[in-house]
Amino acid sequence: MKVSEAIVSRRSVRGFLDTPVDPAVIRRVVETAARAPSGGNLQPWHIDVVAGAPLDELKAIMRTRLAEAPGGEPTEYDIYPKVLPSPYKDYRFAVGEELYRALGIPREDKMKRLMWFARNFQFFGAPVALFCTVAKTMGPPQWSDLGMYLQSLMLLLREEGLDSCPQECWAIYPATIRSFLGTPDDRMLFTGMAIGFKDEADPANAARPDRAPLADFATFRGL
Ligand SMILES: Cc1cc2nc3c(=O)[nH]c(=O)nc-3n(C[C@H](O)[C@H](O)[C@H](O)COP(=O)(O)O)c2cc1C
Repeated sequence: MKVSEAIVSRRSVRGFLDTPVDPAVIRRVVETAARAPSGGNLQPWHIDVVAGAPLDELKAIMRTRLAEAPGGEPTEYDIYPKVLPSPYKDYRFAVGEELYRALGIPREDKMKRLMWFARNFQFFGAPVALFCTVAKTMGPPQWSDLGMYLQSLMLLLREEGLDSCPQECWAIYPATIRSFLGTPDDRMLFTGMAIGFKDEADPANAARPDRAPLADFATFRGL
């Protein structure tokens, strides 16, 4: 697979088959993704992979937690800026609308949308879950390094025929995840990720969010 094919075919998949994933493949991509660059070669990512019985346990914990604390827990960082101006808020709105249109859930049906959102906390049925944590001392430059690691990982998964969905939503249950993973106090959760084989029949996977045109985000001088 060419890099460009991996980039274009990577999508956030929100419906997985229960087909097991070869543990050796996961170990390989988690290791190879660490070839991602990082400022000063700090390699600030820390990865926890969860599958099998521990994943079943986490899913059960989350069913209980969602019922107990549907609004989440005190968060350790803001997932979005408190005020999100255009065009960013428009992009965010559009992606949600496209997803729920594919699922056939109208705006007025807030409860059904919420219930569907809760599928995040079952990793959309994926057989492998991953969490990325980072030392609390790290700042924005190191958090951008996490993004490079995670995109490298998602592209390597494509090469293996696997799909993924990065999931920041886990950051609204940081205490539960800290306790489950045994994350030390000096580290914090950035994101979770669902990994597995895409269920082509799942309507959630029909959504294909667009991107802003080149001229909207890039300026070229001298070429
Ligand atoms: C760091 C990060 C966190 C994300 N968190 C979630 C999430 O919690 N739930 C979800 O369904 N999608 C999540 N997404 C997926 C984005 O919505 C998706 O990347 C974006 O809409 C573009 O769609 P695409 O990935 O299919 O190209 C996340 C993406 C990133 C990069």
